[in-house]
Amino acid sequence: MRAPPLSLLPLLVAAAILSLSVATDKLDQTASIAGNQTLESAGGVFRLGFFVPPGSSDARAYLGIWYATIPEQTVVWVANRRNPVVRPPGVLTLSADGRLVILDGRNATVWSSDDAAGSGGVATRALAQLLDNGDLVVTHGGESQSGSTGRTSVAWESFDYPTDTLLPGMKLGVDGRSGISRNITSWRSAADPSPGAYTFKLVSGGLPEFFLFRGLSKTYASGPWNGAELTGVPNLKSRDFIFTVVSNPDETHYTYYVSDPSVLSRFVLNGTMGQVQRFTWHRGGGWSGFWHFPLDPCDSYARCGAFGYCDVGQSPLCSCLPGFQPRSPQRWSVGDGTGGCARTTNLSCGAGDGFWTVSRMKLPEATSATVHAGMTMDRCRQVCLGNCSCRAYAAADVSGGINRGCVIWAVDLIDMRQYSEVVQDVYIRLAQSEVDALTAAANRRSHVVLVIALVAAISGVLLLGAFAFGCLCFWRKKAAPAGRDNELPLRATKLKLRRDDQGFSDENKMSSEEDDLDLRLFGLAVILAATDNFAADSKIGQGKA
Ligand SMILES: *[C@@H]1O[C@H](CO)[C@@H](O)[C@H](O)[C@H]1NC(C)=O
Ligand SMILES: *[C@@H]1O[C@H](CO)[C@@H](O)[C@H](O)[C@H]1NC(C)=O
Ligand SMILES: *[C@@H]1O[C@H](CO)[C@@H](O)[C@H](O)[C@H]1NC(C)=O
Ligand SMILES: *[C@@H]1O[C@H](CO)[C@@H](O)[C@H](O)[C@H]1NC(C)=O
Ligand SMILES: *[C@@H]1O[C@H](CO)[C@@H](O)[C@H](O)[C@H]1NC(C)=O
Ligand SMILES: *[C@@H]1O[C@H](CO)[C@@H](O)[C@H](O)[C@H]1NC(C)=O
Repeated sequence: MRAPPLSLLPLLVAAAILSLSVATDKLDQTASIAGNQTLESAGGVFRLGFFVPPGSSDARAYLGIWYATIPEQTVVWVANRRNPVVRPPGVLTLSADGRLVILDGRNATVWSSDDAAGSGGVATRALAQLLDNGDLVVTHGGESQSGSTGRTSVAWESFDYPTDTLLPGMKLGVDGRSGISRNITSWRSAADPSPGAYTFKLVSGGLPEFFLFRGLSKTYASGPWNGAELTGVPNLKSRDFIFTVVSNPDETHYTYYVSDPSVLSRFVLNGTMGQVQRFTWHRGGGWSGFWHFPLDPCDSYARCGAFGYCDVGQSPLCSCLPGFQPRSPQRWSVGDGTGGCARTTNLSCGAGDGFWTVSRMKLPEATSATVHAGMTMDRCRQVCLGNCSCRAYAAADVSGGINRGCVIWAVDLIDMRQYSEVVQDVYIRLAQSEVDALTAAANRRSHVVLVIALVAAISGVLLLGAFAFGCLCFWRKKAAPAGRDNELPLRATKLKLRRDDQGFSDENKMSSEEDDLDLRLFGLAVILAATDNFAADSKIGQGKA
């Protein structure tokens, strides 16, 4: 190749100087960013550079990633949250062994990415690149000078070291193969990104579950993952927000996506509020909160103690599971449920025990429960009955409506709350005499429910004649309280009529709308059939002996 003519040299030099200030998404071992220089992802979504948090008294600088397009700087990741640059300017370089290194104004190293892959050796062709999903990735052995692509390996990425924010595609959990565990930890304050009091993370063991910690104590739990949902956050799935929990021997994590990739969305642990919050950006107007947890008093961890459950629709909030009574009725009556509940009748620890089914609740904390993959429910029940420490059992995975595996609680049942929708069946171990008493009470009540339902159905038919069209809503309203009147807590009540306004899932919603249509078309005959169905379905799950 011929050398360029001399007359072009000044131009080339000028171009080289210019390119330093032109936005780029990559940093190689010959370059650096210093002071207020930044990297910008190829699509212009994120920017990486040094920033000084607003309101910080001294000019402590941090290397961070924020949205490039949003006027109010919203930092989603901080490299050196524990080690600010106090002698400016901060400089980010890629070292000879392929690590990101932050130097201060006196060339002292204040932070460096770990070198799990490089382990001190010389890394050829290391490259740091800021991606449009907000991930800062360091690769080793990338494209060579001759143009042929060498074997590229990801040596380090910022997504493995979350700060207080989970972006779409980031994982929260543990990876057994790499040994990396990812949590989010709040900033100490808006002016100080160093780790604050709150951490949100996976606690391993039993069924996967995510906990919010304040220091060492749990303040909120997502509810165990049952293969279909996090049982403490029902209806989290929606059309524009997709989350998954992956749980296998190699790794367990939570991750989420937004279906419209142009929507900016973040999941942040707010240390001021002690909440995990989900925000989306509205073009032309700020962040709006989608949801946050904890949401209500019943989200407060173990609010009602052992064998108690919380219901926001009741006063006091705490009740005892069927077959249990408050340990301290005095404290209970003044609204302090933390003492929990004790059995009304002791277990016999043998053939004299049975189970009572509850189904509309957040599963009890299962991090110290035992999971037997592949065990049938019958076997699960036998194993539970055969071990005096067993307090309850349930299917470990109910995805697709099929019971798989078995989870056994040999610990106190805590952190339960009641929902109006069916979540899944949990079988609570009780003395058989207690099961019999509850069954008798339930049968008495189910007759009342049936009568109310029939009255509601018949009055619906009469009104159908009167109003042809508009009556349907009325009928549903009449029918619904029949279900709610069921005072027995947490019953396995599968009232078709209720499902449609609860919208347990889109699938159910669709099928119940079809039911409504049938009713409208076929009138009395179908209503009677449906009522029959109603009676059979609403027959309260028997306490099995
Ligand atoms: C970058 O910093 C220098 C001095 O440190 C300042 O003069 C300049 O205006 C800054 N540029 C931008 C774009 O903020
Ligand atoms: C820091 O290191 C660079 C390159 O090694 C050098 O040019 C510069 O003078 C050093 N600055 C100080 C303050 O030591
Ligand atoms: C969160 O994760 C970081 C890095 O993996 C770890 O150092 C820290 O101890 C974790 N915090 C908690 C509370 O588990
Ligand atoms: C924390 O939440 C409060 C109230 O929603 C909000 O004003 C504040 O900006 C949040 N802080 C962060 C760091 O998101
Ligand atoms: C139930 O068991 C506890 C200890 O396990 C005992 O103190 C209590 O007296 C027992 N109650 C009855 C009614 O047997
Ligand atoms: C009963 O269950 C507990 C907890 O799972 C376990 O530690 C214990 O070994 C079991 N006992 C028997 C006899 O299987």
